[in-house]
Amino acid sequence: MSAPNKSYDPVEVEALKPEEIERMRDAALAAVAAATDLDALAHAKTAHTGGASPLALANREIGALPPQAKAEAGKRVGQARGAVNKALAARQSELEAERDARVLVEEAVDVTLPYDRRPAGARHPLTTLSERIEDIFVAMGYEVAEGPEVESEWFNFDALNFPPDHPARETQDTFFVEGPEGPGGSGESGVVLRTHTSPVQIRALLERELPVYVIAPGRVYRSDELDATHTPVFAQVELLAVDEGLTMADLKGTLDHMVVSLFGEGMTTRLRPNHFPFTEPSAEMDMLCYVCRGDSVGNPDRPCRTCSSEGWIELGGCGVVNPRVLTACGVDPEKYSGFAFGFGIERMLMFRHSVEDMRDIVEGDVRFTLPFGMEI
Ligand code: PHE
Repeated sequence: MSAPNKSYDPVEVEALKPEEIERMRDAALAAVAAATDLDALAHAKTAHTGGASPLALANREIGALPPQAKAEAGKRVGQARGAVNKALAARQSELEAERDARVLVEEAVDVTLPYDRRPAGARHPLTTLSERIEDIFVAMGYEVAEGPEVESEWFNFDALNFPPDHPARETQDTFFVEGPEGPGGSGESGVVLRTHTSPVQIRALLERELPVYVIAPGRVYRSDELDATHTPVFAQVELLAVDEGLTMADLKGTLDHMVVSLFGEGMTTRLRPNHFPFTEPSAEMDMLCYVCRGDSVGNPDRPCRTCSSEGWIELGGCGVVNPRVLTACGVDPEKYSGFAFGFGIERMLMFRHSVEDMRDIVEGDVRFTLPFGMEI
């Protein structure tokens, strides 16, 4: 910047000469007009209005002028800068509008284009629901236990306190596996397709150190016809806890925790007397209808399709482990007690997701599975 000087003639300051200012303004306006995109405009802006631009430098020279010359020079430079800023703003919005219009065209998605990627599959909802149930119990310290699907009658029935010729063996609609016929062979192999996951209770008690806390999901078989509510192959989850001092109250608390974890706060279960050879006392367990929460009962104005306005949904069987089962597994029933429950996962999947036909679950059509997504 030049030093203040009383005898200073503004016309003598090169940068402030009117034709110089005009030249700077015109150069700036030309650069703005020539900018064809927002980047180029940003460059033009820095070059012509930034701190090192000719107009900014000229502006600084004004301070060095004698007072009487400042006003006129200030006006001239100010007008030039104003014109440049106005042109910049106008070009900026023009270029932004152009960019927005271009993005709309370039990034448009044509939803009618044919689907040509290899479609990704989805996990079967039975698997994800089963894993979700396992997770609830693993978080409580339970271990996941497994057993064979082709099972010896002893594990499937005898050790579970089914008497040898008891009709209960038939009521489970058992598939018996054929053995050798002829001399020495009776045709009876003593092997069945397991009718429930309860034999895993026996295996767990025989294989593990006490206390035992296991959750056993798995496939089971019963000679039912496949229809909307039955399938000869289905999935169950079995739970077994054997420790010192366990009671029916622990069973109830565990069931309540499970339904709250699966269906949300406020859920609960109820037990109704029943009979199973391997539990005593035994109960049928129901959970509160998670849709109407019981509000549909006696309320014809608000019927509930999920529980048929019963207020409760039947889940499966449960009870305190029969001391005979503990004895068969070498566990002292005087010292230890336990509880168990088992239920079908297809049924839970059906009411949890309003699946109306069990065949949809077992047929393996990907169109059924996909809407459940890739939940892991
Ligand atoms: N195994 C029984 C069934 O399949 C269910 C059950 C499991 C009942 C554990 C009591 C205890 O019907």
